[in-house]
Amino acid sequence: MSHPIDWSGLRADFPILHQQIHGKPLLYLDNAATSQKPKAVLQALQHYYEHDNANVHRGIHELSNRATTAFENARARAARFINARVAEEIIFTRGTTEGINLVANSWGSQNLRAGDKILLTEMEHHSNIVPWQLLAARTGARVVYLPVNGDEGLLQLDRLEALLTPEVRILSLVHISNSMGTVNPVAEICALARARGITTLVDAAQSAGHCPVDVQSIGCDFLAFSGHKICGPTGIGILYGRQQLLDKMPPWQGGGEMILTVDYEQSTFKPAPHRFEAGTPDISGPVGLHAAMDYLDAIGRDQIWRHDQELAEYAWEGLAQIKGIRMFGPRKGRAGLVSFLLKEAHAHDVVTLADHAGIALRGGHHCTQPLMKKLGVESTARASFYFYNTREEVDRLVETVEQIRRYFAD
Ligand code: ALA
Repeated sequence: MSHPIDWSGLRADFPILHQQIHGKPLLYLDNAATSQKPKAVLQALQHYYEHDNANVHRGIHELSNRATTAFENARARAARFINARVAEEIIFTRGTTEGINLVANSWGSQNLRAGDKILLTEMEHHSNIVPWQLLAARTGARVVYLPVNGDEGLLQLDRLEALLTPEVRILSLVHISNSMGTVNPVAEICALARARGITTLVDAAQSAGHCPVDVQSIGCDFLAFSGHKICGPTGIGILYGRQQLLDKMPPWQGGGEMILTVDYEQSTFKPAPHRFEAGTPDISGPVGLHAAMDYLDAIGRDQIWRHDQELAEYAWEGLAQIKGIRMFGPRKGRAGLVSFLLKEAHAHDVVTLADHAGIALRGGHHCTQPLMKKLGVESTARASFYFYNTREEVDRLVETVEQIRRYFAD
């Protein structure tokens, strides 16, 4: 059941939002780069360090037991957050990038051979391109891409089946594009791949905190996301892996915590997920992430999704009125971000002048250089929204971009 939400009221939970930037109230629209953190997360971190801090899985003393319990409770919470079957399917990582690198190194080195193919899409973030290129260079496999249809930013799904050839061993794709706002139908795509025995990975960096994400209904083998984009701390992320796959995968980093026995000649390893978590992990990260997941689910990610989409559509309609503006990504059914270019001004100039007006945007290639090259642009300006943004803020964004256009046109 949906309940009315006081979106502006939620802003009181975010101390950072209440400040002036260059003499203007901060308007934070760089949420796709990182989200802000509510007091509940800040307090969980402080409480952990003030009361429970110790190393995990080692000590017999009370603090170590508390830290271990908090760490493993966060794993179980992450499993519930994405509807994994068991907590053992959750590996703590530093973020989405490390999760994808883990799969490319562990699963990839075990399963890829010369002549195999790795299928990606043309809208992938560098973090879902470079690890596969490195793997391809090591194994002799080849990286191939499902095309994007241009400025509209949609995958050419009619070409997918022809690309799902027997040489393809893994399909790795983004759920929500960080530079276009496209929402890919990942469940349908993963179903086509799985029907052909192809392993699938979903990059959920831009979706996990913005809409309900259910690994069982998506039907993927792996899914990665970052804590800092979902109101949690930086430096902590989640890799979900289907248990049958994780159980067969070799370690990718060696050290303490991940072993059962060590001899001078050889070692044996713990089962997943601990086999993939060498060394002292980030412990406060999972504690903060746990609080962030509780916070988001208390609001409801279905509600956040509706709010994000409404703001993005409203922003699109407003910005599209500006003379000579070029908009990227689909007009309808988009996620909570808009990417654009003014004819008169470089994206970096737009972002710099917006900053002088107190508005935080991102300008650049958004770590999607190949996509930018395909579109024939160096960069775009991007406004990305979250549940604490309001329609009034979108009005301010549109007015400011119009002022910037006039400034450069004169
Ligand atoms: N991938 C993040 C972004 O899109 C950093 O800004």
